[in-house]
Amino acid sequence: MSPLTAPMHLGLDIGTSSVKGVLIDSSQQIVLTATAPLTVSRPGPGWSEQAPDHWWKAANRVVKELAQKKPKAVAAVAGIGLSGQQHGATLLDRAGNVLRPAILWNDARSFAECRELETREPKARAIAGNIPLAGFTAPKLLWVRKHEPEIFARVAKVLLPKDYVRFRMTGDYASDLSDSAGTFWLDVGRRAWSDRLLAASDMRTDQMPSLYEGTEPTGRLTPGVAKSWGMPLRPVVAGGGGDNAASACGIGAVTPGSAFISIGTSGVLFVSNDRFRPNAERAVHAFCHAVPETWHQMGVILSAAASLEWLAGLLKTPAPKLAAGLGARLTGPSPTLFLPYLSGERTPVADAQARGMFTGLGHETGPKHLTHAVLDGVAFAFRDCLEALEAAGTVVSRVTAVGGGSGSKLWLEIIATVLGIPIDLPAAGDFGGAFGAARLGLIAATGMSFREVCTPPRIVRTIDPNPRLGEAYEAQYRRYTKLYPAIKEIHRS
Ligand code: XUL
Repeated sequence: MSPLTAPMHLGLDIGTSSVKGVLIDSSQQIVLTATAPLTVSRPGPGWSEQAPDHWWKAANRVVKELAQKKPKAVAAVAGIGLSGQQHGATLLDRAGNVLRPAILWNDARSFAECRELETREPKARAIAGNIPLAGFTAPKLLWVRKHEPEIFARVAKVLLPKDYVRFRMTGDYASDLSDSAGTFWLDVGRRAWSDRLLAASDMRTDQMPSLYEGTEPTGRLTPGVAKSWGMPLRPVVAGGGGDNAASACGIGAVTPGSAFISIGTSGVLFVSNDRFRPNAERAVHAFCHAVPETWHQMGVILSAAASLEWLAGLLKTPAPKLAAGLGARLTGPSPTLFLPYLSGERTPVADAQARGMFTGLGHETGPKHLTHAVLDGVAFAFRDCLEALEAAGTVVSRVTAVGGGSGSKLWLEIIATVLGIPIDLPAAGDFGGAFGAARLGLIAATGMSFREVCTPPRIVRTIDPNPRLGEAYEAQYRRYTKLYPAIKEIHRS
């Protein structure tokens, strides 16, 4: 390495549709990014799987592309952080071989096993601080136990997606606490594996990876990988984080009360907490953060921008055009109500079988009314998340918006009005999981404090709640909260 090249740090995000790499220098400027696509296979109804080897191949393609374009910068990498899609079950035998395709976070097959877990361990919700969802890892293992017993008998280790990539990078079985909290095997308050939760799915602690904080080094690249990646310093690999916790490190949401709202395909309201604040009854995800002595809560809605995309498909008009068609001035809530449960819902109802609906349709209803109703409905779903988080003692006084949906100022104004808090828009930049992971890699390599490294971006604009429309939106939200209880039995029968 040239002595003139200052240390670099790499973040690798093992997503569902791609692996992304972000290379930063020691002042956190992005030097280069690269991505490699991934595909999902759906071999059964509601199933969603990926071959772990494809993550590894995609990670290699990303690093090789970076190295080809900036060999000196890649040779100066001193720390690597990992971020990834949460909850996926990667099953390995004693020799570290993959036993079957990984079952992903958006796989719904283990619906029945969630109830079985709670029957087998009546204190499960209290220990995990969460409600078991089909997306989480533990019910997937119960499914494998029942349907593929010969594979279950050979499971020596279960790893989350990013931790499988770590295993290939370093040879270590290790995970960080934020991602491990999404397995439903972690005692989230104690930041340790729970023997009781593990026993509820016939699993043992020796089948789990060792636990680390997201900022801690878990190992180094093996000499072979270091050589093939062109990284002679054999960089340390940080614990890293689940994709949302890692994104929070990227956007600077690491101090108590700091929050972001992600309006992507799904929607996330994320708040950083000074202690463990569960509200399992309303399906709040209460997880460890990727930084020490910190936890976080998330309200997760499954179809945020996906709801608008669905309508855009039906109306054969691109989603941004539909939203822009409403004009720039917000006049009040739509008289039509929309429940955005197109693929079930997590927070607050934890109901995979729930489905969406419109109410109040009339001869006068047209595309604009439906679009307006969809924007309102997603805002109401975020309000449900906020209420569920606040019921656990959290105060959210403002949020930073990220994700594709934050491109619509009108939508942001609706959400700010429905939530009753200002929404900050960051300067254009890359604050995703890969950037947050790169920051964690920098911390692990340098020992810097996370407060110093994980700072918020510059805010270019703040969208305030509309004071004229607060009451009207409040009244409409009250109506919205009656929709799900009124229809929830219909889709079950
Ligand atoms: C979090 C969750 C998703 C996945 C995939 O609970 O299921 O955010 O991590 O992105």
